[in-house]
Amino acid sequence: MNILLERQSRKPIYLQIRDRINRLIKSGALKSGDRLPSIRSLAESLQVNKLTIIEAYNLLEADGIVTARQGSGYFVNNLSIKSTNLESTFAPAQNVMIPEPGKCSFYDTYIPIKQAQAQPGMINFGYGSPRPPKDITLIARRALRQEDADVFCPYDLPQGQLTLCRQIAQMLVHQGLEVFPEDLIITNGSQQGLSLAMNYYVKPGDWVIVEAPTYYGAISILENLGARIIGIPMTAEGMNLDLLEQYLHSHRPKLIYTITTFHNPTGLTTAQVHRQQLLALAEKYNCPILEDNAYEGLNFEPVPPPIKALDKNDIVTYLGTFSKTLMPGLRVGYMVVTGNNYQTIIEQKLLYDFHTSSISQIIVSEYLASGHYRRHLNKLRTDNLQSRHVMLQALERYFPEEARWTVPTGGLFLWVQLPDDLPIQRIRSEALAQNVYLACHSAFFPDKQGYPAMRLAFCLPQEDIEQGISIVGKLLKRYISKGHEQISNYQPLAYSI
Ligand SMILES: Cc1ncc(COP(=O)(O)O)c(C=O)c1O
Repeated sequence: MNILLERQSRKPIYLQIRDRINRLIKSGALKSGDRLPSIRSLAESLQVNKLTIIEAYNLLEADGIVTARQGSGYFVNNLSIKSTNLESTFAPAQNVMIPEPGKCSFYDTYIPIKQAQAQPGMINFGYGSPRPPKDITLIARRALRQEDADVFCPYDLPQGQLTLCRQIAQMLVHQGLEVFPEDLIITNGSQQGLSLAMNYYVKPGDWVIVEAPTYYGAISILENLGARIIGIPMTAEGMNLDLLEQYLHSHRPKLIYTITTFHNPTGLTTAQVHRQQLLALAEKYNCPILEDNAYEGLNFEPVPPPIKALDKNDIVTYLGTFSKTLMPGLRVGYMVVTGNNYQTIIEQKLLYDFHTSSISQIIVSEYLASGHYRRHLNKLRTDNLQSRHVMLQALERYFPEEARWTVPTGGLFLWVQLPDDLPIQRIRSEALAQNVYLACHSAFFPDKQGYPAMRLAFCLPQEDIEQGISIVGKLLKRYISKGHEQISNYQPLAYSI
């Protein structure tokens, strides 16, 4: 097979191989049923590592282009079957939201999700959490056996254990973010990082910019703080920067909260140029940025370095977590805080809870040291990519043509935008009666309304995705065909997700 590699290119070799094979298939040079070269022979002829070929073939398989047959190799699929559309059709109206100060709603959102999770047989599209690593008990036992009890019995330092801080600093370097272990604070999940940073930057009555939609746990902290929230709409490229500038100018906010990579809930990732422009605006208006990267590491394709990597003036605070890649129950997250901001935040961390659980820190540390984390991430990405593919196919098959959705290149969920006037809460209740749990739009918007949409977690067993999406698709089609007349008689249920 003739594949010309551009070894100086910034595009990784495995993606070059994937794209070249894709082109060969599209041009007809490779036909349905053709066998791809064996991993070993292609690796030898291209003089690359076998793992590079495996990564390229895995991507092709996850995109439904080829199929692996046990012991025989990889074969081109019959592409007369409609292949999945990988173009996002997401294009919401661009309305800025400035809600009246509201009640804090996190509890009302969180508890129903937990209850749904406990229901046997429930297909839970509302919960974006990784499949737990199989070897975690083994690693945990080994970690605790190795440690002298003296290490985790006494009170520890508020910033966390030095070994873990060093490991995280090393890990961040691979994402293009060079930090020193002294810039890190280990937190009880990134939720605590959000609290610490928001409490540091925001006083009651201050204006704060968030993306609309955004993570409801962040909205709730701001509501609890008495902040005034400005929701700047998301476009397919990220937060609308023209509107951002207008509101930076008119309202002089004290903080911009942004989820740059696999945004919750849309799944979108901003490009490098969007990150540069956002930082430039924040610098121009002297407004700090809180960059939440809760879904880091879950990428199917390379992602640009975080905004924090571009920050020369210590205006960006960065948050990460092991909740989405390992287990939320460990409650291990971290903040990167540079410059003068560090001291006040670390003093607050000590006041909150002394420090993050030493046992959890030791377990994460052992996971990172053993090399299991890297392997686990590779597996997670491959599984998630396949699940995303199954979900995209199911959406095309079962959802009404009026629905538009994002096509994330990583993370745990995608966002489906639905026609106006659909009684989403009623559809949600009917889906629940058929054992399908949905996270609907209202929780993710600062005004608790926004536009009709749902966030769908794709990190589920493939048969659940197929079944759940077909149930929801039928409901949506039924309500769309009923038309507006009957729907206008509909009384919405009290707000809940
Ligand atoms: C964007 C975002 N930030 C922060 C969190 C909090 O995660 P944790 O505290 O488990 O790290 C979540 C949880 O879903 C999230 O989606």
